[in-house]
Amino acid sequence: MKKEESGVINIQYPLPKTKKMPANLIQKYNVPGPRYTSYPTVPYWDDVVPTEEEWKEHVKNAFTVADASGEGISLYLHLPFCEKLCTYCGCNKRITINHKVEDPYITSLLREWNLYLELFGKKPLLKEVHLGGGTPTFFSPDNLKRLMEGLFAGSIVAPDAEMSFEGHPNNTTREHLQTLYELGFRRVSFGIQDFDPEVQRIINRIQPYKNVERVTREAREIGYKSINFDLIYGLPRQTMESVTNTIITANELKPDRIAFYSYAHVPWVSPGQRLYTETDLPRDEEKRALYEKGKKLFEEAGYVEIGMDHFALKTDKLYEASQNAQLHRNFMGYNSSGTRFMVGLGASSISDTWTAFGQNLKKVETYQKAVDTGHFPIFRGHLLSSEDLVLRQHILNLMCRFRTSWNSDDLKTLALTEAKTRLQELVEDQLIRLEEDSVQVLEAGKPFIRNICMTLDARLWRNKPNTQLFSSTI
Ligand SMILES: C[S@@+](CC[C@H](N)C(=O)[O-])C[C@H]1O[C@@H](n2cnc3c(N)ncnc32)[C@H](O)[C@@H]1O
Repeated sequence: MKKEESGVINIQYPLPKTKKMPANLIQKYNVPGPRYTSYPTVPYWDDVVPTEEEWKEHVKNAFTVADASGEGISLYLHLPFCEKLCTYCGCNKRITINHKVEDPYITSLLREWNLYLELFGKKPLLKEVHLGGGTPTFFSPDNLKRLMEGLFAGSIVAPDAEMSFEGHPNNTTREHLQTLYELGFRRVSFGIQDFDPEVQRIINRIQPYKNVERVTREAREIGYKSINFDLIYGLPRQTMESVTNTIITANELKPDRIAFYSYAHVPWVSPGQRLYTETDLPRDEEKRALYEKGKKLFEEAGYVEIGMDHFALKTDKLYEASQNAQLHRNFMGYNSSGTRFMVGLGASSISDTWTAFGQNLKKVETYQKAVDTGHFPIFRGHLLSSEDLVLRQHILNLMCRFRTSWNSDDLKTLALTEAKTRLQELVEDQLIRLEEDSVQVLEAGKPFIRNICMTLDARLWRNKPNTQLFSSTI
């Protein structure tokens, strides 16, 4: 093995063979499908937007439950600014090099938080805080400090609160890491995506290995307990060799968690993806083989697949949560906090009261205008029906535990009875085991977890989309 200047290791070929999935199953199941960070999924929310009064009612009720049970709340903050466009990126972002945007945006976030605090009428218990983006480390350490101190002034931070942020290896400084650590952050997620210079060039994200090595080392020196790497398979120009090298390099740095995302090609949402051609993308069996290879290399390095696209070392809390059936999934992805009420602050953020979803205005200026004039900046949402609540729980169970079981009350939901019939086809394809009152995803079914959840997605089968809403499941 030889380490190049970029730090990427070149290994000798031929590589050991991985178990291949039957091509006919890949063709059959490679259809557009949701990633189920919510049910119903956003395109299937009812058209009726909750009024501000309805939204307040749901928030107040959710807070009463979270407060009385001691469950507490989760807080997500969307920090949308990035200095450069990464062309693959499917997230809501604003590209700017003008750092004067930081201060007024933080003021708006704190104003929005105050709208929630007024409704709660008492300090909420924060069990989870996540700074996502965009690029949270676009903001200076001082501004992040002002933001967090402002949020904490009106809250009680639980002693075991899970606090994490997304850092870009190119602009996360030691001062960022130190400041956020002193504020209570113990988890950091670095966006790596790929180490290959050609892939980095085409996705417009030149990120030398030395930057990744530095931030990882500094985070450890400062005392961070959990470091996550985001990697993506299916990016333009990726090959089996380049993905293998990327994973071996990542594994050498031994992050505690790895998110190995399937590239979501959604150019109708993220036009930056039109800056490369679709023929550059590994597809179908080729893309699936990249995932299979990655999974094998992660497992050989001691990682366990704890949920869709997610791997963790056995020493990480997420692994422990997956073993104790305490894994939870929400708009932030997988977590172990177990809170059901999530407040999302910032442009485009989604809040979840468990009985209702609400999404904030996406454009930074319109979001700020709404908040600065004292209004909740919700522009769309959904009030969950009793059927939604039952189906949501089972979809969540499948995403977090690869199994679910229902009782006679659940079966009063006719959609679930119908789903049982639909699941039969997956039994025939040997992807699941279906019992009278339960379904278990088999090892061969794990790569098709999105398809399996789709059989329980009554809103999707009742209203087949005319245009493509989701990325492909493979
Ligand atoms: C909101 S981004 C924040 C990353 C951070 N701004 C950075 O640049 O390091 C969070 C993660 O979403 C994932 N992601 C973004 N676009 C994606 C896409 N089109 N398909 C799959 N994953 C994607 C990436 O792995 C990324 O690290």
